[in-house]
Amino acid sequence: MTSQVTTTSPSFVSKTVVLLSQLQRTLIKRGKANPSLAMLAVTASIYLYIGRMRSLKKKQPRGQPVPHLKTRFYMLDVAYDYIKARSQGDELKWVQGLSKQGLTLTTEFVGHCLILAFEPSSVQHMLVKNFENYPKGPEFHRAFSPFMGTGIFNSDGAAWKNQRALARPHFQVTEYKGAAHIETQIHQVFGILDQAIADGTAIDAQDLWSRYTIDSATGFLFGDCINALGVPQSKFVSAFNYTQKICGWKMRLCNYQALVLAPDFKQKVRDMDAVLMPIVDAAIAKEVKRHAAAVEGEENENKNENLLVHFLNSVDENGKPFDRVYLRDMLMNFLLAGRDTTTNLLTFMCYNLGKHPVIMERVRQEIFTVVGRDRKPDHEDIKKLKFLKQVINETLRLYPAVPFNIKTCLEDDVLPNGYFIPKGSLVVHSSYVTHRMKEYWGEDAEEFDPDRWGPERVKMVRPFMFFPFHAGPRICLGQNFAYSQAMNTMTRLLQKYTWKVVDGFEPMPETDITMFSRNGMQIIFGHYRE
Ligand code: HEM
Ligand SMILES: *[C@@H]1O[C@H](CO)[C@@H](O)[C@H](O)[C@H]1NC(C)=O
Ligand SMILES: *[C@@H]1O[C@H](CO)[C@@H](O)[C@H](O)[C@H]1NC(C)=O
Repeated sequence: MTSQVTTTSPSFVSKTVVLLSQLQRTLIKRGKANPSLAMLAVTASIYLYIGRMRSLKKKQPRGQPVPHLKTRFYMLDVAYDYIKARSQGDELKWVQGLSKQGLTLTTEFVGHCLILAFEPSSVQHMLVKNFENYPKGPEFHRAFSPFMGTGIFNSDGAAWKNQRALARPHFQVTEYKGAAHIETQIHQVFGILDQAIADGTAIDAQDLWSRYTIDSATGFLFGDCINALGVPQSKFVSAFNYTQKICGWKMRLCNYQALVLAPDFKQKVRDMDAVLMPIVDAAIAKEVKRHAAAVEGEENENKNENLLVHFLNSVDENGKPFDRVYLRDMLMNFLLAGRDTTTNLLTFMCYNLGKHPVIMERVRQEIFTVVGRDRKPDHEDIKKLKFLKQVINETLRLYPAVPFNIKTCLEDDVLPNGYFIPKGSLVVHSSYVTHRMKEYWGEDAEEFDPDRWGPERVKMVRPFMFFPFHAGPRICLGQNFAYSQAMNTMTRLLQKYTWKVVDGFEPMPETDITMFSRNGMQIIFGHYRE
């Protein structure tokens, strides 16, 4: 059966978009609005003028129609609530609140049929069972291409498959040679903490970890680190932050991405390229030399020494060598995948342990027993640090680094719970919401309790109640790397330091692509003494 789509006339829509974008431009020019406020206002207007009017009404060939999100005044109330929540740093809680209306909901959203699917069985269906029907889709690509090109994160189909297959061997934990490459960064972190302790000042742990992880990720990926720890206000880091924010907004506005004005965007991308391109070019030059040497019969020892070199020696999905732009996209994508996620994990571990001194002490005693007081943990130690791993899981449950994810439905489909998903819908699932559902986790779902991951209680964790690393064919490639880096870092930290969250400080979790705390994470460190 064919489905029928009714929309308001395209010319009305495009006229409205042009009008709104002019209004926004004028406001910014006159200094009457800062860009993110203007974007919020524009989102609200779009909800109001277009979102509701352009309803996608489909005939239901099968399944149940998804219940509608309750709205009044053509979505105005929803838009207002969202903006209020976002400005108060309560965005995630707001989305969680929607789930009280139902675990599967639909609404019209900037010209698309948007479906919220919070049930574990729906998540499993989209990520695993009917994976092929739920790619990232064109809206995602359009939002992210200017920043991430055709890299793994931003591709579907053959390009994605090829990059994934090429990268996978590098992420096997055996190849992650202990934690040798984070040694320099760990000592830089110690230096920064010792200084703060001497000065008696608090530290923004989020800022610290964001520099730490960019250095360790670049070290792992291309053998050279960016040294963001050494240069706090690095242009690279601020450009990286900025472009993500803009792309996050574009994704939210879907068809109306043109409304997201980002006058500095191109310059910021150039700032990043100024760092990445020389790394790519140097690697190419080195490979050319190595090949020449190999022809003369010399040793080939550098082959595959890091991910970049490995890609350099491989071919793209069309059987051609990767060109320098493709290689740059690759680096950018792996940086994005690996940096903010690990930053988020370390930041919220500092928060949770800082708020729960008894648990911090239990982790520390485990570390003293397994690893000792000053030795570096090795691969075997890491496997034995069971309670630390429970703390990590509990942190990932409450503060998953990728709290929402969006897929495009290719063909009409029915979820296991019987709801019909029309072709072309954008379907959102949310680890944040599912990870905190009382239906699944019990009345204390909002509480930080690592013991729920203990040997007995862990049996209550059913499949797809917990998916901080995504699942199925697109499951996070860096999962083991992330556990291992977080465990290493926390071990080293707890051997030497103790900390607490600054009195009265509460983080404001917010999401561009990954979750972060808008107001940072104020922590006071001290030396550990018994
Ligand atoms: C706590 C840390 C981490 C978390 C919570 C996390 C979570 C995720 C999630 C949810 C996805 C799916 C995203 C999507 O498809 O939209 C993903 C994908 C990915 N992650 Fe991670 N990640 C973490 C660390 C890392 C690290 C350290 C690396 C690499 C250095 C990494 C590499 C990747 C890659 C390459 C993908 C894309 C896989 C694909 O599309 O096939 N991740 N990660
Ligand atoms: C970049 O964003 C992180 C949060 O993800 C923040 O902690 C850090 O201070 C920002 N750095 C710069 C230079 O803007
Ligand atoms: C933590 O979660 C992972 C999935 O991300 C799971 O494989 C592991 O068994 C869990 N570990 C503990 C100690 O609960």
